[in-house]
Amino acid sequence: MTEIQEEQIKHTLAQYQDPYLKQDIVTAKVLQSIKIEPSAITIDIRLGFPARDYQETLRQQLLHVLSRLNLSQAIQINIDWEVTSHAVQRGVKGLPQVKNIIAIASGKGGVGKSTTAVNLALAMLQAGAKVGLLDADIYGPNQPQMLGCSGERPQSDDGQSMKPIIKYGLQTMSIGNLVDEKTAMVWRGPMASGALQQLFTDTHWQDLDYLLVDMPPGTGDIQLTLAQKLPVSGALIVTTPQDIALLDVKKAINMFNKVSIPSLGIVENMASFHCEHCGHVTQIFGTGGGNALADEYNVSLLGSVPLTMAIREGCDEGRPIVIAAPESEVSQRYCDIARGLMANLSVLAKDYASKFPNIVIENK
Ligand SMILES: Nc1ncnc2c1ncn2[C@@H]1O[C@H](COP(=O)(O)OP(=O)(O)O)[C@@H](O)[C@H]1O
Ligand SMILES: [Mg+2]
Repeated sequence: MTEIQEEQIKHTLAQYQDPYLKQDIVTAKVLQSIKIEPSAITIDIRLGFPARDYQETLRQQLLHVLSRLNLSQAIQINIDWEVTSHAVQRGVKGLPQVKNIIAIASGKGGVGKSTTAVNLALAMLQAGAKVGLLDADIYGPNQPQMLGCSGERPQSDDGQSMKPIIKYGLQTMSIGNLVDEKTAMVWRGPMASGALQQLFTDTHWQDLDYLLVDMPPGTGDIQLTLAQKLPVSGALIVTTPQDIALLDVKKAINMFNKVSIPSLGIVENMASFHCEHCGHVTQIFGTGGGNALADEYNVSLLGSVPLTMAIREGCDEGRPIVIAAPESEVSQRYCDIARGLMANLSVLAKDYASKFPNIVIENK
């Protein structure tokens, strides 16, 4: 009887398609156990991404589908999560204290990549993740200003490694916190590339689930070197909907494909204009560009962020909107996109290599 009921519950749970996992919880292998007792049923679920702001919604949805069964017992659904490391490019070794690196990239500058990166990082933090943000834009570091920590210099305990600068709970590092802007501007490609690798390896990141890397714009040599040398689990592509930007975006996706880094999704930025006075939303660049691109490359469109005054103001003032107005519609959008991004990564292949000890073959 218990087995029949267990199968029935499993089958019913599988009828709910999670919008972030894009599959049901049985197929996604996040259903851990179903315990059936005469007076209670306990269901344990372990997601692969932090869901502090989502677990209640999921619980309600699952209770709703289960209500069809008219079960006599009380139902308890426990939801927790565990973030694991996912596979990176072949031949590149990860850092033990950073579980996953996600590159935030775009085909060209000015599409809002840094703005998206900082707000998504803060949204992930709100979901319960441990998050870092590495500003890889050596020639135009924006993150110190966006986070309001321009004047801060990193501390070092050992004279070898730097402690990340912590702002709003986010661990961050930028060339802008080390040298003044004009110094880095004159560096040539290899030097800039080297500086970036050092920023990554010499920063003492503390136990991160995700390190977002705000990439420099474009698909030049520096970007390619980065894509080949940093252990990246996935990339997020930011675009505006104009056609030219989309062309550039294709190049960016292709660059990641070439080095076997999966694209986790596309964010369409500044697609529409939200008027703060009358509330009207204008589709300045038309709609559907991001969707078409997503279809062509089989990458999901994670969401769209309107051109909003408060987003720009927040970044200029060093208080991104996700911090300044967490309940606003735009901030909720960032949270939604962050959840989709983390969920998409969670269903990809895990990194078993890092769990293996190094094997040395000696010939004595
Ligand atoms: N959705 C948005 N609404 C309003 N302003 C935005 C939005 N996204 C970005 N911006 C503004 O556009 C400018 C460029 O954004 P930025 O993130 O620096 O682009 P990128 O890093 O791609 O060069 C900044 O002034 C930023 O505040
Ligand atoms: Mg930028």
